[in-house]
Amino acid sequence: MTGHASIPTAVEAMRTGAIDYVVKPFKLSLLLPVLERALTVRGLRLKNVELEKQVGQRTAELEQLNKDLDAFCYSVSHDLQTPLRTISGFSEILSGHHGKSLSPEALRLLGLIQRGAAEMRQLINDLLEFSRLGRQAITRQKVDVGRLCRDVFDELAGERSGRRVELRLQSLPRAEADPALLRLVLVNLLSNAIKYTRPRERALIEVGVAGPGAEPGPVYFVRDNGVGFDLQHAAKLFDVFQRLHHAHEFEGTGVGLATARRIIERHGGRIWAEAAQDSGATFFFTLPPAAG
Ligand SMILES: Nc1ncnc2c1ncn2[C@@H]1O[C@H](COP(=O)(O)OP(=O)(O)OP(=O)(O)O)[C@@H](O)[C@H]1O
Ligand SMILES: [Mg+2]
Repeated sequence: MTGHASIPTAVEAMRTGAIDYVVKPFKLSLLLPVLERALTVRGLRLKNVELEKQVGQRTAELEQLNKDLDAFCYSVSHDLQTPLRTISGFSEILSGHHGKSLSPEALRLLGLIQRGAAEMRQLINDLLEFSRLGRQAITRQKVDVGRLCRDVFDELAGERSGRRVELRLQSLPRAEADPALLRLVLVNLLSNAIKYTRPRERALIEVGVAGPGAEPGPVYFVRDNGVGFDLQHAAKLFDVFQRLHHAHEFEGTGVGLATARRIIERHGGRIWAEAAQDSGATFFFTLPPAAG
């Protein structure tokens, strides 16, 4: 409230946090609505502080739950290794040292046991790796995403040997991310793109940024012209051990996308997919710059 009203003082008052501006001499009928509004704004601000506190608490609880789950996942998978070693160790001794006294059928069954044990070892290793990710600290730095894509694609030469697989790389904005973890995301997305285009005579993988949307920061995508999948199941692909294709058609344990999601989410980003049966798949992810 002032008797020396001028536009600069009004601007200054609002800038320092005043809700309104009343000039003297004033009428009560003018002041009342101003006060009412001020009280509403104050109420909203208090509510906001309270909500932020609640969100903070929930986040802390969730983080703790996630840590517990990781610790559980780690110790279970770790403890499963010992009995598994017993199974594969003794079945190897059985087929190696006593193979001559076994019938062909018994040897075949032993072979199946060994294959099952090897598969389980792979699952356990993947789980151990996955739970390790949750506990590992993130160190962000500027990453040349395009360069990283090219490197990873070159590294995956073994997975596309004897095939025609073209990588079409748009120019990509740099990201602020943990380079080792972002590499793992690209390894998973690109190796999927290579794997699920296997039936195509000419496989095409495009990496680029999608047009501006509601997301903070750029939306990177990896698109392929492979077998795709029914979009109805898109959400569960990002859960551990969820697969839409049979192991006899496309090998894998179903941990790749869960790993990618975990890394992207730990960076505060989002990952999702678009696809159609038989017409390729596109995976999108965001990497918002670190807050603060
Ligand atoms: N580019 C793609 N095209 C079609 N289907 C895909 C693609 N990427 C993933 N999928 C589907 O999503 C499932 C989960 O993918 P994910 O990478 O997690 O597992 P995976 O490739 O089967 O095994 P791995 O653990 O070796 O990565 C796959 O089994 C497949 O059905
Ligand atoms: Mg995979």
